[in-house]
Amino acid sequence: MTAIAIPTPGGPEALVPETRPVPAPRPGEILVKVAAAGVNRPDVMQRKGLYPPPPGAPDIPGLEIAGEVVGVGEGVTRWKPGDKVCALVSGGGYAEYCLAEEGSALPVPAGLSLAEAAALPETFFTVWTNVFDLAGLKPGESFLVHGGTSGIGTTAIQLARAFGAKVFATAGSAEKCAVCRDLGADLAIDYKTQDFVAELKQATGGKGVNVILDMVGGSYIARNYEAAAPQGRIVQIAFMEGSKVQIDYMRLMLKRLSHMGSTLRSRPGAEKARIAAALVEKVWPLIEAGTVKPVMDRSFPLVEAAAAHARMESSAHVGKIVLTVG
Ligand SMILES: NC(=O)c1ccc[n+]([C@@H]2O[C@H](COP(=O)([O-])OP(=O)(O)OC[C@H]3O[C@@H](n4cnc5c(N)ncnc54)[C@H](OP(=O)(O)O)[C@@H]3O)[C@@H](O)[C@H]2O)c1
Repeated sequence: MTAIAIPTPGGPEALVPETRPVPAPRPGEILVKVAAAGVNRPDVMQRKGLYPPPPGAPDIPGLEIAGEVVGVGEGVTRWKPGDKVCALVSGGGYAEYCLAEEGSALPVPAGLSLAEAAALPETFFTVWTNVFDLAGLKPGESFLVHGGTSGIGTTAIQLARAFGAKVFATAGSAEKCAVCRDLGADLAIDYKTQDFVAELKQATGGKGVNVILDMVGGSYIARNYEAAAPQGRIVQIAFMEGSKVQIDYMRLMLKRLSHMGSTLRSRPGAEKARIAAALVEKVWPLIEAGTVKPVMDRSFPLVEAAAAHARMESSAHVGKIVLTVG
């Protein structure tokens, strides 16, 4: 099969098509003939050599796929050859065939193409587990996501809105802010021209924000503490502006804040299966009703993965970039 390898870490050109053997499913795994694979910022980090695959994961990048089941390992009961699935995988998505754990695969929601379905797992698993499981966002609370037009941001805005929160987002241009509002944000803040702490203070009548999902880190850590409401919960899912900062923790203590973090890829299969089950029960019906949808930026053929990464790194994209196979 054709797969995209990273022989030497580097720029987008480090992504090189190679011929690899089709993997064989082990017990509890399914083999999927990939129709499309989502591109995510962690793939960019992996390509640069900054996010190595966890032990046992394939060296081929790609954390989410959609396609047809063509083989099942011993003990698999939920899926059979011919089923159309999308799946969260621990690597190997940039390929014509990919293995997935039975519990990390979900049915393709009715009405979605396989390219759209491939854009779901990484961001929907991440947003669900961080915003709802970890931070416990409740209806009527306020919610802020930084990077509102990212894959994560477009998903977070829609889900927070669908579950009854007041939604705020930051983004890097007036056009991106308009997209955030179209997706359901009550207020979108252009962080290049506006101070999000001051804007949120005004928008919440001085109360602050209950839950913050942050991928920026760096200087945002102290500013998130300022923007948070008393007993606010802040979840860190990345540090695009850096993870080493000097900080005055006084606000954390005085406001009784919780600052948490998590990463998805290295979690045990059973935990991913539990998140998948919650998504199928609580979120798939919203997708099938058209209330929530993956926001699609552009698709590229698999062998043009380097161009897909260049687009992601330009930050010109809005929503999800996918690779298509065949
Ligand atoms: N921990 C986990 O489990 C997990 C899982 C998946 C993804 N992630 C992380 O989540 C982040 C988003 O992933 P993705 O795949 O959705 O990537 P993406 O679409 O490339 O999003 C990155 C976004 O960051 C925004 N951004 C950059 N600097 C910013 C700043 N100073 N303030 C506000 N926004 C800023 C960019 O938009 P602007 O043009 O608006 O700046 C862009 O929309 C990545 O950092 C990724 O590593 C974490």
